[in-house]
Amino acid sequence: PKQVLIDVDTGVDDALALAFAVLHPDINLRAVTCVAGNASLEDVYRNTRAVLALAGGSDVPVARGASRPLISPPRNAAHVHGHNGLAGLELEVPDDGNADIHAVDLMCQQILASPTPVTLIALAPLTNVALLVRMYPEVAAKLERIVFMGGSASVGNATPVAEFNTWADPEAAAIVLDAGVPTTMYGLDVFYSVAVDDAQVGRLEASSRPAARLCASLFRYLARKDSEQKRIPENRIAALGDAGVLCAIVDPAGLTVQRFPVSVCIDGSRSRGQTLVDRRNHRGESELNGASLGRPVDVALDVDGDRYASLFCDVIGGEARG
Ligand code: BDR
Ligand code: CA
Repeated sequence: PKQVLIDVDTGVDDALALAFAVLHPDINLRAVTCVAGNASLEDVYRNTRAVLALAGGSDVPVARGASRPLISPPRNAAHVHGHNGLAGLELEVPDDGNADIHAVDLMCQQILASPTPVTLIALAPLTNVALLVRMYPEVAAKLERIVFMGGSASVGNATPVAEFNTWADPEAAAIVLDAGVPTTMYGLDVFYSVAVDDAQVGRLEASSRPAARLCASLFRYLARKDSEQKRIPENRIAALGDAGVLCAIVDPAGLTVQRFPVSVCIDGSRSRGQTLVDRRNHRGESELNGASLGRPVDVALDVDGDRYASLFCDVIGGEARG
């Protein structure tokens, strides 16, 4: 199995991703780290442990990291994820086993102890990951890849041009792109294209698995949100969001990526948090005069949404073939 770490701000769609990671036989989820983003750090920590326990992953170590972005003020997305970050659902929360270790130390330990290079999946503002590569630069060589949900080569969501995770902590995103680790950007160009239909959610609702019923309630919650409906394909009711990244990890053939230089706008203007994806096939006057092009990033440009939605429902519903 793939050795995987996930950094989350759980978060309705982070919860979907966690359930999938626990239930997929080809993923060894070594640890989950929490960061403030969709909700406060304490809410994220509580939601994450509750979701892992419900999906059968109560043995996965979980730790708290940054409670706010490096420089930007703290923000949240309660209008999307509910007052507690998890659609207002009150789940049973297991005992707190790892309260003392910081997220950055847990990530470092797990990366160094892994038998094979680790894939680090970031589904939240990149604050924890930036601190990791700054505090422990030696981990870069032991990472197979960083795959982050964030950014966009086209439009944004938090602002006209910036996606929420890169907008919430642009400096962290810039540090992570600069870390010298092979990086994939799973951004808004594909994020809303992977979505379930009503029949798929109905099958999850009818499942005997608690994790399937949880995912069904989260999808129904998203389906009630107008702003979400406007972004997904017709005849679908809710996007997998962050969980699409996990589908891409186990089934990379469903994702089309292309390598481009990418940089993050960190100045104070209205473009703050935008990922500038350089899709030109030539150098322009600014580079000819010494400007940097940005870092090479594999940018997800297209996705087979039906394939990933079916994969997700099969794994969560218990019909995966492994
Ligand atoms: C991202 O922001 C959060 O609302 C989601 O969990 C996802 O990680 C989408 O912009
Ligand atoms: Ca998230």
